[in-house]
Amino acid sequence: MANTAELTVDGKSYSFPTLEGTEHEKAFDISNLRDQTGYVTLDRGYKNTGATKSAITFLDGEQGILQYRGYSIEDLAAKASFLEVAYLLIYGELPTQEQFATFETSIRRHTLVNEDMRKIFDGFPVNAHPMGVLSSLVSAMSAFYPDLEGSKEDTTDQHIIRLLAKMPTIATWSYKRGLGHPMNYPKNNLDYIPNFLNMMFSLPVEDYKVDPVVAEALNVLLILHADHEQNCSTSTVRLVGSSQANIYSSISAGISALWGPLHGGANQEVIEMLEDIKADGGDVSKYVDMAKNAKTTGFRLFGFGHRVYKNFDPRARIIKKAADDVLSKLGVNDPVLEIAKGLEEAALHDDYFVSRKLYPNVDFYSGIIYRALGIPTNMFTVMFAIGRLPGWIAQWKEMREQKEPIGRPRQIYTGATLREFVPIEKR
Ligand code: CMC
Repeated sequence: MANTAELTVDGKSYSFPTLEGTEHEKAFDISNLRDQTGYVTLDRGYKNTGATKSAITFLDGEQGILQYRGYSIEDLAAKASFLEVAYLLIYGELPTQEQFATFETSIRRHTLVNEDMRKIFDGFPVNAHPMGVLSSLVSAMSAFYPDLEGSKEDTTDQHIIRLLAKMPTIATWSYKRGLGHPMNYPKNNLDYIPNFLNMMFSLPVEDYKVDPVVAEALNVLLILHADHEQNCSTSTVRLVGSSQANIYSSISAGISALWGPLHGGANQEVIEMLEDIKADGGDVSKYVDMAKNAKTTGFRLFGFGHRVYKNFDPRARIIKKAADDVLSKLGVNDPVLEIAKGLEEAALHDDYFVSRKLYPNVDFYSGIIYRALGIPTNMFTVMFAIGRLPGWIAQWKEMREQKEPIGRPRQIYTGATLREFVPIEKR
């Protein structure tokens, strides 16, 4: 018989069903809590709240396990292509060769972005942060596809293809304009990642050949970022989408959420922090001490700590090894890699970090690889967004297919109680 949870409040007892996921995580089902008891729950930051049932990604923070649709992140990072993983996340199974060919060809054919989008882009200041620009332009895409009526599932696949195809193209615009270089059009004879690299780095004045080491490193990074269950940006996508807002608006909101320094924006913060440590003489212990006194210094070690991982972040393990491999294959000697390792070493032996279970997360080493690939710091979070896109799409689609009700949390009101209005001349 299924377990039940008993709650006694105001002298009355209530019973609530429990449920168990396929990986044995357990939950109390409190869907009827308020109706039955008159109480709501308070869970700031949703540290204990399951917002949905989902069959996309499983992670176990204690064991350091991450799986997409049942496949381990280690396996996927070593063996799959980013678009295969995108298909897996969105449609639930690894594609057959035929399914993959159709999916990939559709994406190839949609990489071109409407020229009028360029006019919108031209209105941004040259030094606008690429994340703000990306979020705005993805939202603007909704204006170019008027068939996007949220409830019409028949056009969803088309929008999914458009998003996957066009977002990398748009992403490269900020980079090119920042340099004063002409923007490149996509070349559809190239695969997904080489096409992106070509738009980023080729110039009309010389030949550009995609380095397979760079393409492979990017493939791994994008796979590692592709989904992470109900994190802040994904929850944002699902919440916005739950009002039946269209997929472009929902994903645009997710991009904005990702930009924050406690979430995807941490990858930019990490490199800036490592640069500061280098400029300050490379004394990592000074920064570890500052982070230990976060309450007074306001300083946190960016790239450290995670809401769910309390042992290690499996993505960070893969990325740390990849950082060593990629830098040595490319012959790059980046002094901040040594500073990062020194910082990790110091923190992992410090009781403050050990007792709070703070370990390097996915953002700690990823920036060092991006930098070695030639990607500038202000584009790091954009790279995260390109990686996370299939996850956001998959979660949005699942939310729609499960016909989830509009997301609408409760609150505990702590403001003034009813009082009489005083006209302005009497105040
Ligand atoms: N440096 C120093 N102290 C930290 C850090 C850190 N990076 N992270 C957490 N702590 C301390 C925090 O001060 C608190 O201490 P105390 O119990 O004494 O008050 C304790 O550890 C628990 O922290 P929390 O803020 O309650 O934990 P959380 O689950 O709410 O926050 C986090 C998770 C990722 C926001 C946080 O660890 C953090 O701010 N890390 C730095 C930013 C970062 O790297 N973010 C990327 C996360 S992974 C990728 C992604 O999501 O995009």
